[in-house]
Parts: sequence; structure tokens; C-alpha cells
Amino acid sequence: MPEKTEARGQWKSNLGFILAASGSAIGLGNIVFFSANAYKFGGGAFYLPYFIALFVIGIPVMILEFGLGHHTGQSYPLALRKTVGRGGEFLGWFAIINAAFISMYYITILSWVLGMLIGSFGTLWQDSIPVPAFGMAEGALPNPYAYFFDMLSSWWVLGLVVLVWLANIFIVRRGAQTIEACVKVFVPLMWLFMLILLVRGLTLENGVQGMLLLFTPNFEVMKNLDVWQGAFSQIFFTLSLGFGIMAAYASYLPKRSDLTNNALMTSFLNCGFEYIAGVAIFTILFATVLIPKASTLSMMFFIIPSGIKEMPGGDPMVLVFGVLFFVLLLAAGLSSSISLVEAFSSALIDKFRANRKVILLVSFVVGTIGSLCFALPQVINESLSDDGTLGLTLLDLVDHWAFSHGLIVVGLIECILLGWVYGVHRIRRTINEHSKFNLPASFDWLVKLVIPLLILFVLVFSIVLQIKDPAGMYGASYSENYSVDWGWVRWLPQIAFFWWIGSAIGGAALLTFLRAKARGAAVENGGKR
Ligand code: PFF
Repeated sequence: MPEKTEARGQWKSNLGFILAASGSAIGLGNIVFFSANAYKFGGGAFYLPYFIALFVIGIPVMILEFGLGHHTGQSYPLALRKTVGRGGEFLGWFAIINAAFISMYYITILSWVLGMLIGSFGTLWQDSIPVPAFGMAEGALPNPYAYFFDMLSSWWVLGLVVLVWLANIFIVRRGAQTIEACVKVFVPLMWLFMLILLVRGLTLENGVQGMLLLFTPNFEVMKNLDVWQGAFSQIFFTLSLGFGIMAAYASYLPKRSDLTNNALMTSFLNCGFEYIAGVAIFTILFATVLIPKASTLSMMFFIIPSGIKEMPGGDPMVLVFGVLFFVLLLAAGLSSSISLVEAFSSALIDKFRANRKVILLVSFVVGTIGSLCFALPQVINESLSDDGTLGLTLLDLVDHWAFSHGLIVVGLIECILLGWVYGVHRIRRTINEHSKFNLPASFDWLVKLVIPLLILFVLVFSIVLQIKDPAGMYGASYSENYSVDWGWVRWLPQIAFFWWIGSAIGGAALLTFLRAKARGAAVENGGKR
């Protein structure tokens, strides 16, 4: 298919693809979200639901998304259109817009990581610094809290948001070609840094106890359906499924590619990294006698840096491991965020046959504005002395919908459409043509029945709980923050919900509809894909 190669680019090697796909999968989610979840749900308790989610949902959906992209040679929305028609394309755009929300706040978080990295060369390790924006007295807050809140309420953090967006655009400027060059450096680097952290953690006095805590099962918690929803959402997020990423990446693979093997490699590399990160973090935290809190952001910005600050070896060691930790986060985060920028850029390029530069410019402008929205309230609302988390709360609110609900909804409908409407056996057949391990026919039933039923069960349960508790309807626990009379700000949970659902459904409908106009060109050129 030479036309495909020229027009859409191709990975230079299968290794390049594995690095890119695992680079996308391994991100902030693996380093902190997993440990925070594992802790929240009682250490070992999280492993079983997580393992079940990996084998029953994660790996099969990854094979399916690889198969879809490769089989059609298109990015996600057009691949779904080609297989299941207009409804499929609508789902594709819904997924891309949902994923765009995630990438926007993901990039905001990455900007904070960059800010923390800058601080880790010095200021972050001082005992405290003044926090002028929140009207606190000098020394009122210890570091790393003080540094983080000071950064959050400073204007310069907005510059970091723009910088991280520019870095993303720069890396994806020539699609697969420049992405491959970048992940060849970033992915080995993050493995190396993570292994160094692991060895350090395990060799700390009492470190091994932390590992045992992580692996001690607590079966009681498994009766709690929240654990299952946590595990299902986490498996989609961590494997970058339901984002449209894996289909886009697989569309750049040559015809004769072993997709089953690629999916297994990507999943195991991702989960292996996640376990190593879990052990490294739990050992460091246990050895430095800190109790990790459940919140993922506090884990990343407060708890782990506090642990590093207490490490033996004095200032030089604190500096080395502090810098190492934030470089690791940045490399892992960037190799994930670029995949998302590529997923939605390639979707638009494929759809409108547009120039990559123009689309990247549009992505940059829209994406930066979105990311600034998640960072901005911290900066402009200096008087929030009793709750400096307004922007974080906006982030939490959107995360509640896009991450905890959006991804699994996409997974559910994707399985139903490809399973029943297109016929998953057709995708399985093409996958099996070039794969050493032949997917059995039972794979079809996994996609058609088992996965949708599991997701549906968890989803219905979670929605019923939210309806039962109307105060929590728009993002559960955050609503109590809005009892203060902050004018329109108290409506933020509702605004966040309608912003998300309105953009995702409205945008998806619009983009699906626009297809009709661009169709002439598309059919001529791409009809045979
Ligand atoms: N797999 C990524 C992670 O675990 O961090 C998820 C991801 C998030 C990918 C955001 C891409 C992205 F922009």
C-alpha cells in the first residue's frame, strides 16, 4: 500500500512502534495514579480486580483497537466510519474530544511537573517559603506544599503550560517519524530512572516492608464496586484505550505486522512498569515513614517529594533523586501526551485531508486555551485563602466525567459496534493472518458480550449511586466546596459537566456532519482504504 506510506507515514521498525505505543501507555498514570489507587483500595486488594481488568478487558480491547487502525489504515473516527458507518464516526469523535479534555488537564499537570522540576534544583528542598498568593505568613506552610502552592498561584506557570504544548507540537511535527525519534530516547530513559528509584527504594532500611504492604491482599475491599470501577477506568487510562490513540498508532504499521504480539508486549511493558513504580514508591514511602494519602496529585507533588527529602545521604542525594523523579515524570508524561496530540491531529488530517502544519496550529491554540483553563483559576483567584484548590477542583470535576466515565463508555460502545454491527470476526481474521498466536473464536464473545456486560454493570451501578445522591451528581465530594458564596463559581460542577458533555456530543455531531461536505475529496482519494 505505497500510497498509505507516503500520505500517512509509517514506523521505521516494529520496535519503534512498540516504543511509541508503550511510551503512550506508560505515563503519569503508571507512576502515581496506580500507587495512589492501590493505596486507596487497601494495597493488595487492588491487584485482583486490576489483573482481571487487564486480561479480560485491557488486552482484548488493545488487540481490537490495534486491529481496527491497522485493518482500515485510518485514524480512529474514520476507521469506525469505514467499519460501522456514521454512528461509528460519531463515537470516534466523541472519544477524541473526551480524550482531548483529558490531554488538556494532563498537560496542565505536566506543566506543574516542569515547575516542580525547576524547583527540585533548589527551592523545593528548603524548609519553607512564603506563600504570598494565599495570604499566608512566611513559613506557614512547609515545603514541598509551599513551593507547589506558590507556583500554582503564580503567573509564570501559565508560561510553562504554553511551553509544554509547544514541546508536544514540536515532537509530533512530522507524525510517526518525529515521534519515533523522541520515544527512542524517552522510553529507555524512563525505564532506567525507574529502575534506579526501585533499587534505591529496596535498599533503604525498612523499604521491603513497603513492598509487602503493597502486596498484602485485603479481599474485604473487593466487595466494594468502587474498586471495580477504579480498576476498569484505570486499565483503559493506563493502556491509553478509548482515546483513539492505539488505532492511530497501529494505522502507521506495515501490512505484515503481528498485532497480537504487539498488544501483549505493550500491555506487559506497561503493567510491568506500573508494578515496578508501585514497589519503588511504596518502599521509599515506607522507609521514610510516611503514609501515602489517596489523592493522586498529592502523591505526585507532596508525598513522594517529602519522602525523597527524608532520604539518607543528605542534600546531594535529595537533589539527585528529586531531579531524577521529576525528569522521569516529565519524560513519561510527554511520551503519553504526544500520542494524544497525534491521535486528534491525525483524525482531523485524515478527515479534512488538511495540511499537518495547519492542524497542528489549530490543536496548539485550542489545546493551550483548554490547558490554561485548568491552570488559570489558581492564578487569578488570589483571595481563595481558605481553599486554594479551585483550579484543581475544576480538574477533578472534568476528570470525574472524562476519565471515570468517558473512557469506559467509549470502550463499551466500541465493543458493541465492532462486535455486533461490523462483526469482530472480520477484524480477528485479518489480525490472525500475520500473527503467530491465533486468536480463538472465543475472542469474539469476549468483545461482543463479556466486556460490554462487565462495563455496563459497573457503569449502571455508579450512575445509580450518583442519582441517589443528587449533591454528588456532578462530581460527588467536590460539591461541598461550593457552599461558600462565590457567585457563579458555585455552579462549577454543573458548568464542568455541561462543558464536557456539550463539547463531546455537540463537537462529535458537528465533525461527523462536516464529513458530508468534504466527502468528494475523501472518496476519490481514500475510498479504498
Ligand atoms: N496511558 C497514559 C498514562 O497512563 O498516563 C494515559 C494518557 C493520558 C495518555 C493522557 C495520553 C494522554 F494525553
